[in-house]
Amino acid sequence: MKISVIGSGYVGLVTGACLAEIGHDVICTDNDKSKIDTLEAGGVPIYEPGLDNVIAKARKEKRISFSANPADTIDKCEAIFICVGTPPLPSGDADLSAIDHVARVIATEAKSPKLVVEKSTVPARTGQELKRALSVYSRKTGVTFRVASNPEFLREGTAVGDFLHPDRVVVGVEDETAEKQLREIYGPVLDRKFKCPIHSAGACPDGAAPAWVVTTINSAELIKHASNSFLAMKISYANMVADLAERLGGDIGEIVRAMGLDPRIGSSFLSAGLGFGGFCFPKDLQAFVRLAERSGVDFSMLKEAEKINKRRIDRAFDKLREALWVVRGKRVGVLGLAFKPNTDDIRFAPAVDLVNVLLGEGMIVRAYDPEAMDRARAVLPQIEYAKSPYDAAENAEALIIATEWDEFRKLDWDRVRDAMARPFLLDGRNLFSPREMKSRGFEYRSFGRTE
Ligand code: UGA
Repeated sequence: MKISVIGSGYVGLVTGACLAEIGHDVICTDNDKSKIDTLEAGGVPIYEPGLDNVIAKARKEKRISFSANPADTIDKCEAIFICVGTPPLPSGDADLSAIDHVARVIATEAKSPKLVVEKSTVPARTGQELKRALSVYSRKTGVTFRVASNPEFLREGTAVGDFLHPDRVVVGVEDETAEKQLREIYGPVLDRKFKCPIHSAGACPDGAAPAWVVTTINSAELIKHASNSFLAMKISYANMVADLAERLGGDIGEIVRAMGLDPRIGSSFLSAGLGFGGFCFPKDLQAFVRLAERSGVDFSMLKEAEKINKRRIDRAFDKLREALWVVRGKRVGVLGLAFKPNTDDIRFAPAVDLVNVLLGEGMIVRAYDPEAMDRARAVLPQIEYAKSPYDAAENAEALIIATEWDEFRKLDWDRVRDAMARPFLLDGRNLFSPREMKSRGFEYRSFGRTE
């Protein structure tokens, strides 16, 4: 099928590339010309493992092209995926102006009926508004549109694999035709009939085939917000249990391992530490709270999850101050700036919030991240950037692990210790065992463990 993907951010670009990978003809568009220039020149504007190869292959096979003018692509395609950003407004509500703008463009450019698929994360009832906007702005042409919601559950860092091997594909539709069209689009993923570009033969996840979940548009929109908010709540819950375990002499690792063995709880998203960040959980949680408020539903447990998460940074700083006593003027190394490993994304990253606190307290910060330093320079110009983790540790009075990059697990930690002025290690992601790091000569602090 010929598909236009509007918005070439993390979700749009991965969606476009993977739809091309499974056999569709895709045009990825973005208003940001510099992104499109990079793509046209053979580059990829974001770091996402495996994405470069998928795009390169699709380009070679002429199944993907790029355009800085979304309007030009509308009438060339049968389906249009809206993947534009829905950033938070100061109120916490999702800013839907990009969706509104795209609706106008689609409505005025289309000369034949289109399937318009809302993939951006949006509050419930956006689909209804989108449908209304499409019909208002197309009144001169009389073209009709089918609107569907198809929330995306991919995670940054594993986005290509998540798209191609999902647990479920949710489609919110109004009629069978839209469902059929989407079934056709996702056919190769649902039937697992594609040659996986990222796993070697036989190494793809071997669970059940993805569930095909057909719902109303409102339900599909709610599924996305409810899923992200639930996962965020799970993390905050684990963080509170960690605080309690720390006071009472328990070990959060042991606790969540045993909790997770109960399939009703599950083992994922129970890692305690600096808390969650990124461009999804914090904003989706806020937007869901606002949606509930405006609908007269008091969803204050989500507000609590958000507050708990914000306090993680203070908890980390308290541990640092407790160890160093006076912090002003002291040198601290920070390992990791991305909001999680395997991405260069620093939006709403706990590491960035923590660095800002350290700077506010008069500390001298030297940070290292394998992929995120270029992006970090734009928002944190006042810190030093290290050439390596060892360089970040050089002469530091404290070193903080803020993102659990695999590279950090494998460091020569004796060398790190020797480089530091004082071997104080604050492990914000509980990567190491307290006993091991203490036996190496570190003063070691982490979260939710007796040290
Ligand atoms: C999240 C969801 O997991 C995806 O399903 C969803 O599609 C995506 O948002 C989205 O809405 O677009 P993502 O933001 O890429 O994906 O990252 P996650 O892997 O979910 O991690 C989010 C944050 O939670 C990270 O800062 C991570 O460090 C933190 N986290 C995660 C914890 O602190 N503890 C955990 O146990 C797990």
